[in-house]
Amino acid sequence: MQKKISSIPFNGTAEQEAKLKEIIAKHKDDPGAVMPVLQEAQEVYGYLPIEVQKMIAEGLSVPLEEVYGVSTFYSQFSLTPKGQYNISVCLGTACYVKGAGKIIERISEILGIGAEECTADGRFSLTACRCIGACGLAPVMTVNDDVYGRLEVEDIDGILAKYMA
Ligand code: FES
Repeated sequence: MQKKISSIPFNGTAEQEAKLKEIIAKHKDDPGAVMPVLQEAQEVYGYLPIEVQKMIAEGLSVPLEEVYGVSTFYSQFSLTPKGQYNISVCLGTACYVKGAGKIIERISEILGIGAEECTADGRFSLTACRCIGACGLAPVMTVNDDVYGRLEVEDIDGILAKYMA
């Protein structure tokens, strides 16, 4: 799946930037520094906006294409911010055959965002994930640490309403 780029404006703080500079300085001379720097940068910012990728490329003196290539290739990296509530719908085989596609569609309809996007107010983000090992409960979704299984499309409005309140 091609990753989406965030349409939400970047609003990193000076403090985050200072931390990023420390991370870059720590790894600057390591071979293959891009991967660990991206991992630590994601911990600082929660995701990897293009502005952060540019700072990493300049700091490590590597082409932006390389940083971008690594951050889009590995599923552990997110190019979009996570909302206060991150909804993750499993699209693994067991969940998919039991209707996870319809579940994600309904969530998308209610929130007005697609997969790998975040609402403009920063409250909700929606992601599609691989099997989370709860296939017996398929189809499954999580909202932060809450797990919901054996979902029907009709359940979605009620579940989201709890977090919207
Ligand atoms: S396929 Fe969804 S939990 Fe395994």
